[in-house]
Amino acid sequence: MTCQDLEVVTGIEKESQPEPWSEKAFVEELSRSPQGAFVARIWSEGVGGSQGERPPEIRMVSSPPDWKVCGYVCFWVVADELQILNLAVDKAFRRGGVGTELLRYAFTAGISAGAKTGFLEVRKGNRAGREFYKRAGFREVGERPGYYGPCRETAVLMERDLGLGELQSTWPDRNGKMT
Ligand SMILES: CC(C)(COP(=O)(O)OP(=O)(O)OC[C@H]1O[C@@H](n2cnc3c(N)ncnc32)[C@H](O)[C@@H]1OP(=O)(O)O)[C@@H](O)C(=O)NCCC(=O)NCCS
Repeated sequence: MTCQDLEVVTGIEKESQPEPWSEKAFVEELSRSPQGAFVARIWSEGVGGSQGERPPEIRMVSSPPDWKVCGYVCFWVVADELQILNLAVDKAFRRGGVGTELLRYAFTAGISAGAKTGFLEVRKGNRAGREFYKRAGFREVGERPGYYGPCRETAVLMERDLGLGELQSTWPDRNGKMT
């Protein structure tokens, strides 16, 4: 993620989170932890002015800038812990495996920085988020009542051993086959 991505990132953030991070919060995150913020870009017909027959495809690095930002993940690695801070996918591209690929990327970066366990907090009322993380191998290990914002929503704490198994990818390969 770079500052050039922030217009799209904050747009996705506003439609994804009840208390969205501001642009300033993302800028602070980028300066504090530039190795811990990534965007996913997607090519699809009509996006970026390109036309053609290539199937939708996700790229995590070195994608041409006209590929549309469709999601992002922010995380910290502290000692041997990977803390997922924020992860969201553009509504138009959900249930296509983008979130899973972002998480996989965070795991890979975290493991190479020495992380052994992944942690995160998710709103108790965020059913989709909790299901998503469960599917990715996280388990619910506790709750923090009143953790979020003015409505004092409970946070559910989730944890995953990063040495345990592979994340299942739901993203089709170039032949459309699910891997
Ligand atoms: C949660 C979120 C990141 C998932 O992104 P995504 O790209 O749609 O996720 P994937 O396509 O990789 O989904 C993987 C699996 O997670 C589960 N899942 C994802 N969204 C789900 C939903 N709305 N309801 C139930 N299960 C869901 C499913 O098991 C899914 O596999 P399937 O599609 O084969 O059934 C996305 O819905 C989002 O941006 N939500 C708003 C922000 C948010 O809640 N972030 C997480 C807390 S910070």
